[in-house]
Amino acid sequence: MFGREDLFGTPKPERLLQRILHIATNPNDLVLDSILGSGTTAAVAHKMGRRWIGIEMVEHSLPHCLPRLRKVVEGEQGGISAAVG
Ligand SMILES: C[S@@+](CC[C@H](N)C(=O)[O-])C[C@H]1O[C@@H](n2cnc3c(N)ncnc32)[C@H](O)[C@@H]1O
Repeated sequence: MFGREDLFGTPKPERLLQRILHIATNPNDLVLDSILGSGTTAAVAHKMGRRWIGIEMVEHSLPHCLPRLRKVVEGEQGGISAAVG
């Protein structure tokens, strides 16, 4: 969703975070990501029915995580969305 110009150095696949959250959490658990970055962990937590809190202190990350997480909350269909229904 970021396009080529806004691509950052360390993108992680949602499926990797899905595996970790599947092992470490249950539905409705609260997931805290205190280094939100592009928001992959929060996006996957949301799609998997976990509650989440994201903290980000570096302003240049906000153009990545804010629009992404707004879209996720509105029902974005990329990443693991189809797999988790
Ligand atoms: C690799 S990203 C994190 C990826 C993210 N957890 C995810 O699921 O996509 C690292 C982020 O940590 C942020 N960061 C670094 N130090 C921080 C701090 N002390 N408090 C909050 N965020 C911090 C950076 O701005 C960067 O956006």
